[in-house]
Amino acid sequence: MTSVPGRVRPRRLRATPALRRMAAQTRVVPAMLSLPLFVRDGIDEPVPVASMPGVVQHTRDSLRRVAVQAAEAGLGAVMLFGVPQMRDATGSGASDPDGILNLAIEDLVAEVGDALVVQADLCLDEFTDHGHCGVLDAAGRVDNDATLVRYVEMARAQAAAGAHVLGLSGMMDGQVGAVRDALDADGRTEVAILAYAAKYASAFYGPFREAVASTLVGDRRAYQMDPANRREALLEVELDIAEGADLVMVKPAMSYLDILADVAAVSTVPVAAYQVSGEYSMVEAAAAQGWIDRRRAVEESVLSIVRAGADHVLTYWALELAGWWDESRGL
Ligand code: PBG
Repeated sequence: MTSVPGRVRPRRLRATPALRRMAAQTRVVPAMLSLPLFVRDGIDEPVPVASMPGVVQHTRDSLRRVAVQAAEAGLGAVMLFGVPQMRDATGSGASDPDGILNLAIEDLVAEVGDALVVQADLCLDEFTDHGHCGVLDAAGRVDNDATLVRYVEMARAQAAAGAHVLGLSGMMDGQVGAVRDALDADGRTEVAILAYAAKYASAFYGPFREAVASTLVGDRRAYQMDPANRREALLEVELDIAEGADLVMVKPAMSYLDILADVAAVSTVPVAAYQVSGEYSMVEAAAAQGWIDRRRAVEESVLSIVRAGADHVLTYWALELAGWWDESRGL
């Protein structure tokens, strides 16, 4: 950096909205955003998620309608999560072609075609009766390699249903390679993989557990990353890219902007960030109390994630942000 000779007055470019617009270094556009959506089996009306004001569990019909809105708003994608009625030890509903998630993928692809990217969560926690992201061994631990077999079955079902992007969120070692091999062997070379590469064992997933009616007792620290670790994120990213990830993700976002910046600096594939349920609920709760300006906080939070290096952001505010978007100003 050259030394600044005292003639530059940084405030000059902050003086008017027009100057600020001209000088802004980061812009958020709807195409960068993905809206996470929940679809629940066996309901006739959308069910509000109490811990996430404004978020609902969708019926298959209301899900289709919101996907059309997302496409019309110019969003980049939706990320779909299923909430089944029945759960079992191996999460069999996840790979059942008639399971709620796979049916909903089919619905969405039929509805929006190529106007919107359909991403699907590929993980077992919504489908297992114990709530873990994999199958358990005799000692009750998540069995990495037995889980990979289930992920491959789930990937085949999601690809058959027409998903464009599979979001591998289980944090098993080797999951990207196992799924990529299976997709390629089936001739599904066009199906992309979004690897939740640096996914931390975070308290900020709390409200999501209600959204998917998770039955988990305990935590996921034996497979998700330790919040204390920074270098390890690069190891995970390197492994996932080597195994064939088309995009890599950092999750959560706001408490992990250092990780996001590190990953963005080295990744050779696009970098996504997931602004998770707890991040959403904290802002909503504070705004409901009148303690912060809701719109400004929402915009600033997503802008910061993009500034840190995200090319793609999953956020529960995606649709609302697109509504606020002004082509000439960005967000
Ligand atoms: C796992 C999954 C989780 C989230 C997305 N995918 C839960 C977890 O890992 O505990 C959390 C997303 C959020 O909090 O918004 N299927």
